[in-house]
Amino acid sequence: MSEQDFKGFSKLKRNERFQKLQDLGLLDKEDVNLLKKSQFLKQDLAEDFIENSLGYFPMPYGVVTHLNVNGVDRLVPMAVEETSIIAAASKTAKWIKSNNGKITTKRVSSENIGQIQFSHIKSPEAFVDLVKKQSSDWVNICNSSVSKSHFDRGGGVKRFEPRVVSRPDEGFMGVVHVYIDTGEAMGANVINQVCEFMKDQLEEVLKEKPTMCILSNLADTNLTKVTITLEVEKNLASKILEASYFAESDPYRASTNNKGIMNAIDSVLIATGNDWRAVEAGAHAYTSRKGSYTALATWRVSDLEGSEKSLLTGEMSIPMSIGTVGGVTKLHPFAQLSMKLAKTTNVEELASVVSAVGLVQNLGALRALTTVGIIEGHMRLHIKNLALGAGAKESESPLLQKKLEEILRLTKRITLSQATEALTEIRARLGGGRIKERVSSKNDASS
Ligand code: MEV
Repeated sequence: MSEQDFKGFSKLKRNERFQKLQDLGLLDKEDVNLLKKSQFLKQDLAEDFIENSLGYFPMPYGVVTHLNVNGVDRLVPMAVEETSIIAAASKTAKWIKSNNGKITTKRVSSENIGQIQFSHIKSPEAFVDLVKKQSSDWVNICNSSVSKSHFDRGGGVKRFEPRVVSRPDEGFMGVVHVYIDTGEAMGANVINQVCEFMKDQLEEVLKEKPTMCILSNLADTNLTKVTITLEVEKNLASKILEASYFAESDPYRASTNNKGIMNAIDSVLIATGNDWRAVEAGAHAYTSRKGSYTALATWRVSDLEGSEKSLLTGEMSIPMSIGTVGGVTKLHPFAQLSMKLAKTTNVEELASVVSAVGLVQNLGALRALTTVGIIEGHMRLHIKNLALGAGAKESESPLLQKKLEEILRLTKRITLSQATEALTEIRARLGGGRIKERVSSKNDASS
């Protein structure tokens, strides 16, 4: 492959791109057929959204059941490839319900942040004073022009704030934060536009040279708080408390703990066409705000008078800079379908469902990890994938899965090579016909 091979690639029609990749020996006819089959949407969104598109990458799409948030039952759509996520979230949501549980959320704030950097400032004091003094004038300028449509809908620019940041070499840089309520939109475009629009004005007043403008993904002024309470058997409650302390105290554990939370959050964000990378970045930065990386959620236990059980309370505040309009949220038919399934009609409801399912997923993981262990829930479902990966035919899969479950029970571990070996054994032991016989008689017996 040479530089020359891809000259003008983005200008080619889709079929010409396929041809090019075939000519270069990167794809064969079967690959191209697979890509063509993935293109089932009426409008070719891939071509509109990205450059050099070849088709679509299909992901499993499903719903979490049993979730009740703020007293409303919700189905939660997820696009996700990891086997146990939807199962674990549904099971945990059901468990919460059946243990006098409650999931409540509150959107604490709804402002996104834009940053304008001034790389070297002469006088930090003067910089701070001037930005504070000018803030309301600048707000008026923005809301009568660049952010007018947001202002008219009840949002728009709220204030400008100065920050002084020490440079890694010496001296200080000044940063102006612009706080914007972007309403139903995640608002990346309007935030960046406001910052660019104000750059010259700020330079003139501050007598400092602006360097760059961009939104901040550390949206700590766009927080949703979720709380879960439920009644749990004392022993289990204290195990979950210990698991929480572990994640709160050790960044190595916190990272895995938070990955579990983001398993749920990202999956809903993908299903609703939201920028999940932005929320990921914001969540991890937010949870490091006190100087070290820690758990996004905390779990605490208190006594329940006259009860054998304890009250378990989980809390999480998380930046939730998302939208229901803009980007692909309105254009992608699956994003629309997801909003319909979740019955979410606005960004506040969506933020509430997304955050709630994140904390539910965390509880499910901690419960599994402190009781049966991750193998039980995770790997049992993973067995299905291993059987597929080993190449089991539909007729062979039930037998192989049974065998793998047995191995798992005995050895507490299971791998793809064990699955392949077990399949070879099964095939050697039983001919294809006999496998079919066994499977169909099993099915008959259970029907
Ligand atoms: C796996 O995707 C997620 C977990 O590791 C989360 C956790 O450890 O809390 C199970």
